[in-house]
Amino acid sequence: MSTEPLSEPLRNPLSLFDVRGKSAIVTGATGAFGRGAAIALSSLGVNVTIAGSSRDELDAVAAQITANGGSATCVYARPDTLADADRMRDAALAAYGRIDQLVIASGFNKAGFIHEMAYEDWQGVMDANVRGAWFMAKSVGTYFIEQKVKGKVLLMSSVRGRHGNISGYTAYCTSKGATDALTRVLATEWAKYGITVNAIAPTVFRSKLTAWMFGDDELGQATRARSLARIPLGRLGEVEDLIGMAIYLLSPASDFCTGQIMYVDGGFTAG
Ligand SMILES: NC(=O)c1ccc[n+]([C@@H]2O[C@H](COP(=O)([O-])OP(=O)(O)OC[C@H]3O[C@@H](n4cnc5c(N)ncnc54)[C@H](OP(=O)(O)O)[C@@H]3O)[C@@H](O)[C@H]2O)c1
Repeated sequence: MSTEPLSEPLRNPLSLFDVRGKSAIVTGATGAFGRGAAIALSSLGVNVTIAGSSRDELDAVAAQITANGGSATCVYARPDTLADADRMRDAALAAYGRIDQLVIASGFNKAGFIHEMAYEDWQGVMDANVRGAWFMAKSVGTYFIEQKVKGKVLLMSSVRGRHGNISGYTAYCTSKGATDALTRVLATEWAKYGITVNAIAPTVFRSKLTAWMFGDDELGQATRARSLARIPLGRLGEVEDLIGMAIYLLSPASDFCTGQIMYVDGGFTAG
């Protein structure tokens, strides 16, 4: 029997999830996942810089974080330009003096069949889901590299990065396929700096984006039934289903995991 002293992760596995005192930027923090991630991180002692263009909703998220004993700094913006992304980075540095984690949770969908939809609608989805992520990665990644921070980046993909959909998803599926590719290429480009980049790919979970799928009108019921038929665990998701994976990908527990698309989808992609 070995008498070697046990390593810290074996003796105290929860230390792998210790993120106290870190600083995170969360875009789309007015949305379901962004809000959940920001609050959960703050509950673990992370100072959060939260961004979103809906001022009242962002203030409400900040108030909840403060009431829960955390610290939040608001930036009222979407990452529409590199200057917007830089503003979020600079606000985090001004408030907390460091950035360790980047959560890109801003995103959008506008469904439409390709033969009917306007090019501008396709571009709008691509801009929200891909261009915004690229600006955030460029801005915060440059800081990570220059300051030698082994940062953690989390993108939001979807099972739609891998699967098509009959509901008019040429923009959304294309944008999520691009999110997967961006995740992998950033991971490989930044591995030498010790920066990890991963994505969560959920199936449908309850949010502003999907509220209609939880409704009782005909379209909601039909879409829900079609989704449920493909989910072995037999239900749609809730934000809480994604938090464990998010914390894993943003904590030292995932230091040897990069470039991965993590499916948290009730088994959708298994079948
Ligand atoms: N819900 C699902 O079933 C599901 C499934 C798979 C993947 N996802 C992905 O998960 C991420 C988070 O989505 P969610 O469901 O939490 O959505 P959500 O509740 O709608 O939140 C998304 C947030 O993004 C911001 N946003 C909206 N339109 C935007 C645009 N055109 N450009 C930039 N930002 C915009 C909004 O904040 P402001 O209005 O305050 O700016 C909004 O609060 C997205 O990338 C989404 O594609 C969601």
